[in-house]
Amino acid sequence: MKKLLYQFDTDPHPAVFDNVLAYDGGADHVTAYGGVTPQTVGGLVEGAIFTRAPRDKKSTAIFVGGSSMPEGEALLSAVRAKFFAGFRVSVMLDSNGANTTAAAALAWLAHHAPAGTLRGMRAVVLAGTGPVGQRAALLLAREGASVMITGRQADRAGAIARALSERAGVAIEGRGAADMSTRAQAIQGANLVLATGAAASPLLAEADWSRQDSLQMLCDASPTPPAGIEGIGVMDRGAQHHGKVCFGAIGFGALKLALHRRCVARLFEQNDLVLDADEIFAMARQMVALG
Ligand SMILES: NC(=O)c1ccc[n+]([C@@H]2O[C@H](COP(=O)([O-])OP(=O)(O)OC[C@H]3O[C@@H](n4cnc5c(N)ncnc54)[C@H](OP(=O)(O)O)[C@@H]3O)[C@@H](O)[C@H]2O)c1
Repeated sequence: MKKLLYQFDTDPHPAVFDNVLAYDGGADHVTAYGGVTPQTVGGLVEGAIFTRAPRDKKSTAIFVGGSSMPEGEALLSAVRAKFFAGFRVSVMLDSNGANTTAAAALAWLAHHAPAGTLRGMRAVVLAGTGPVGQRAALLLAREGASVMITGRQADRAGAIARALSERAGVAIEGRGAADMSTRAQAIQGANLVLATGAAASPLLAEADWSRQDSLQMLCDASPTPPAGIEGIGVMDRGAQHHGKVCFGAIGFGALKLALHRRCVARLFEQNDLVLDADEIFAMARQMVALG
């Protein structure tokens, strides 16, 4: 029975990145649709759930992607709304790569956390207003960290933090931090700093974090120079700088890619799996623990 993956992308052109990783994750054939909306996805889902016998449904799966996480989430809801009884297939959401990226970064950070857990840590997600930062903030809050996100505009950061708080069920602070000095203030007292700014956006100077005693771990998600956090190497994977554990984008990016492939492989093991942030983070933690 061929493993068929249906890639539903909310952008006009389905992402090549997701297509390649779908094959590398074990799909025999990938069919990619662009510009898919909750209004148009129904018939596509029906084609996936009505065509194979119950024992064979696990060989059909759905991947939801695109550059917008809110659109991806709406599409995932519409996909799931078509499922009933045994008429379902496994589905993964990874719009903008946000779930796999945030999960991979945090799995490494959790592994290196001094107490072995992110619980109780004070975490600041710099430029946490984008899809990767929002996913990371949500996961950190659900893990029991106290979380602040920053953005250049206080009102936008505040609005996003309020929406995340509602979702996480705990308060996430949003702070306007438009320049290096206000971001340096924002990380005062933090134990963990994760930078999730747009590529090539310097967010934090080395002098502003290197002497900060409370800081134990830093991670920069941006692979494109100049670094988001000055002084962190893009290949860093648990490297010590100024007595702090550091991760760079490529350093944790290898796990992100392996995680994405593993998620695709899991889709074909059963027909009722839904892989979103929490499930993908749990898998990332397991992969780090297994080495
Ligand atoms: N390592 C990996 O495997 C991996 C995988 C995927 C993505 N990434 C990286 O992860 C990072 C986050 O991705 P994303 O898609 O969530 O980012 P994004 O949406 O492009 O940007 C995140 C935030 O950066 C802020 N920003 C934009 N331009 C800026 C500037 N010039 N100076 C300071 N801040 C600026 C914006 O926040 P405000 O407007 O609110 O300030 C924006 O909401 C990116 O660097 C991306 O390349 C890494």
